[in-house]
Amino acid sequence: MNLKCINCSSLFDLDAIMYNCSKCNDLLEVQYDLNKISNNLDSKWRDAPLSVWKYQDFLPIDQNVERVTLKEGGTRLHNSKKLSSFFGIDNLHIKNEGDNPTASFKDRGMTVAVTKAKQLGAKIITCASTGNTSASLAAYGARGGLKRIVLIPSGKVAYGKLSQAMICGAHVLQIDGNFDKCLEVVMKLSSKYNDIYLVNSINPFRLEGQKTIVFEIFEQLGHIPDWIIVPVGNAGNVSAIWKGLSEFYQLGIINKLPKLVGVQAEGSAPISTAFSEGKMEVNNVQKPETLATAIRIGAPASWKKALRAIYDSKGLATTVSDKEILDGQMNLAKLEGLFIEPASAAPIAALKKLLRQGTISSDEEVVCIATGHGLKDPDIITKFVEKPTEVSSDIEEIQRVISK
Ligand code: F0G
Repeated sequence: MNLKCINCSSLFDLDAIMYNCSKCNDLLEVQYDLNKISNNLDSKWRDAPLSVWKYQDFLPIDQNVERVTLKEGGTRLHNSKKLSSFFGIDNLHIKNEGDNPTASFKDRGMTVAVTKAKQLGAKIITCASTGNTSASLAAYGARGGLKRIVLIPSGKVAYGKLSQAMICGAHVLQIDGNFDKCLEVVMKLSSKYNDIYLVNSINPFRLEGQKTIVFEIFEQLGHIPDWIIVPVGNAGNVSAIWKGLSEFYQLGIINKLPKLVGVQAEGSAPISTAFSEGKMEVNNVQKPETLATAIRIGAPASWKKALRAIYDSKGLATTVSDKEILDGQMNLAKLEGLFIEPASAAPIAALKKLLRQGTISSDEEVVCIATGHGLKDPDIITKFVEKPTEVSSDIEEIQRVISK
């Protein structure tokens, strides 16, 4: 196993503390000897219950290394019949990553990255965040006994997420700038001070944990769907999903690949813009905006991996408006009882649009990844749904009100 540059293919030691290629500065990824995995694979691996560490044979951590875990993964996949018929599609599933310990998909990557941090002897972990990564870092850092520092954009992180980071004892620093600025700062910080280990998704170990999301989808469905739709912010997750799929495909565990859809909010859409222009380069958005603050990102670190994933899967990148996001969030809650945060509803909104456009047809099977729980960001939705009705304790009045 090595770290491999995605541009110049230079190889580096798996234990080297580095986040970019030292020769060309491009992104790194973990490269496996798939023949070795295949030869050593014990057929019993499928019998274990779903969890991130169930897939340890496909992860870059030795068996004897102590895991920093909160029992992540094993999230539910809901066959959403009412939403399917509302949208006019036969087979729609929601992978609810809000079931994870800190209520977002970030925990899958964090368990692997923080385990690696401890194995490397790091004492301090850090990240830039729009909220969920900081909540996850704080929890896993606490579990692993590491000092934890998070950098967030001032006033732009939902309170649910901020409270998670604070209660778990992270040193929360907020700067007058957006996520992109925060990432720039933590990257400088961790490259200057070697004892500060960076666990943003630019760290290839994060993506290794996150790829398990598709391993689970495959096992839960018993096959691979036609489409997987995922929100895109810093672009780590869509890249991780494609890496997982490609590895299972090369190992012969699956014999089909889905098309990936990466969804961005209209005001924060550098990857979707590049895709719609058929480009392999992105132009950063200087002032990203969306009420889905989790994906309010204008300079996604993993843009190159993400664009490759989308093109290679023969999928697409698209945008949705904030209004469409809110509608998607409400449709899912009202029809299926699942409360997810705004960014997580971007795939639902995109699905509706792609069905209308005929890009996805009603007989194709779709999985939307719901990346985080709605309780992380309740403020937005309470502004848009019907307010509670004031009534007296008189039951006749209550009867009049409810029968309207
Ligand atoms: N959905 C949610 C709920 C997120 O929190 C994020 C990213 C994404 C989707 C996008 O995933 O960055 O891998 O493309 N949140 C990061 C954070 C940026 O700091 O919590 P991505």
